[in-house]
Amino acid sequence: APAPSAPAALRGHIVTFRGNPFLMPPHDALVDEPDGLVIIAGGRITHAGAYDDTIVHLPPGTTVTDYRGCLISAGFVDTHVHYPQLPMIAAYGEQLLEWLERYTFPTESRFGDDAYATTIARKFLGELLRCGTTTAAVYCTVHPQSVDAFFGESTRLGTLMVAGKVLMDRNAPDYLRDTARSGYDESRRLIERWHGRNRQHYAVTPRFAPTSTPEQLELAAALLKGDDTLFMQTHLAENRAEVAWVAELFPDSRSYLDVYDRAGLVRPRSVMGHGIHIDEHDMCRCHESGCALAHCPTSNLFLGSGAFRLFDAMDARRPVRTGLGTDVGGGTSLSHLQTMNEAYKIAQMTGKRLHPVQAFWLATQGGAQALHLDDRIGTVAAGMDADLCILDPNATPLQALRAQMCDSTADVLFTLMMLGDDRSIRATWVGGRLAHDRDSGGTTGI
Ligand code: GUN
Ligand code: ZN
Repeated sequence: APAPSAPAALRGHIVTFRGNPFLMPPHDALVDEPDGLVIIAGGRITHAGAYDDTIVHLPPGTTVTDYRGCLISAGFVDTHVHYPQLPMIAAYGEQLLEWLERYTFPTESRFGDDAYATTIARKFLGELLRCGTTTAAVYCTVHPQSVDAFFGESTRLGTLMVAGKVLMDRNAPDYLRDTARSGYDESRRLIERWHGRNRQHYAVTPRFAPTSTPEQLELAAALLKGDDTLFMQTHLAENRAEVAWVAELFPDSRSYLDVYDRAGLVRPRSVMGHGIHIDEHDMCRCHESGCALAHCPTSNLFLGSGAFRLFDAMDARRPVRTGLGTDVGGGTSLSHLQTMNEAYKIAQMTGKRLHPVQAFWLATQGGAQALHLDDRIGTVAAGMDADLCILDPNATPLQALRAQMCDSTADVLFTLMMLGDDRSIRATWVGGRLAHDRDSGGTTGI
């Protein structure tokens, strides 16, 4: 793990949140400090506020990095992504179930090789930092080595990550199957090795209901028993053919969510990818249980899965914890700016308007709440971990032209989410240290 970080300070336009902009007017939820200062020590934010008020707290001798002209945001939180699928991003032509067979399973078969897994984990984390993402809930593969490789690289960078070994004991090629028992034992060992060590968190990860026997789902729940700090992640109701298959495999369950619920997997710190084809009963169950949904717009469009009902999920009468996920390699970008762009377009298709303050909230504080990590990450405020991304609204000539028309912070955010990508990320700070600097080339610290 990296040595303790030196004191640091960043000057720029702070954008963060004091509440959920789906449940209050967006402008009331936004904390907007055009000339702000963030002071960092020991990997945490010690002060954040207006430059003139905050400069008095600057420890003598601390260098102030000047990001004026850029926004200072909390690092993005990706609530659903598969690191082993990075090499097969943008695979042509199929919807979910055929895509898994044709592209995903063969790609994942290589992660029993430590060296290969480490190489891809390193590239993946480097890409996340280039995109301003500092925390992610990550699927590894069925191989325990894929988890060691991922957490090993994350520990080296000092990133706060959630990840776990995929559990899959049926309906998958034999070279990718575990058994209910071996999956349990291997997961247990990985939990002991990694969970709560440095900034690493373990997620029990049954891939989805079709690839786990009821026995494996029960054992997944047994792994969680007695430790509220463990995560659980899986896929839920992404694709119509998948939903029909689950109904066949689990004829006694009321719904797809109910399969997980009967096993004891619907709880706080459970993160369900997609949740497109679910009904009101299931939305209520998500609300009351504290489990979360990961909205993965680029994936849902790419795989033709359907339109997630974001504003239904956020219904003030029973709001469901919801974050954004890139779902690479089903998703086509690791950038949360691109992900917000496509979330906006899906909302348009369903007759709703995703306000830029809502989109950026989902990418930061909302994602942190979905993971029950909002006491540590997702907000730029004193006491929070110093995981930050610096956004440049003038990253390209076109964006600079459009930026001249902006007359509000909300419009600056909107142009970033519609036109921005990794070029818009001027820098990324992790645990109080500079982890990516666009203009110095490459990723710092790798
Ligand atoms: N459902 C089960 N496995 C996967 C996967 O790897 N990606 C996506 N998008 N959906 C899945
Ligand atoms: Zn996925």
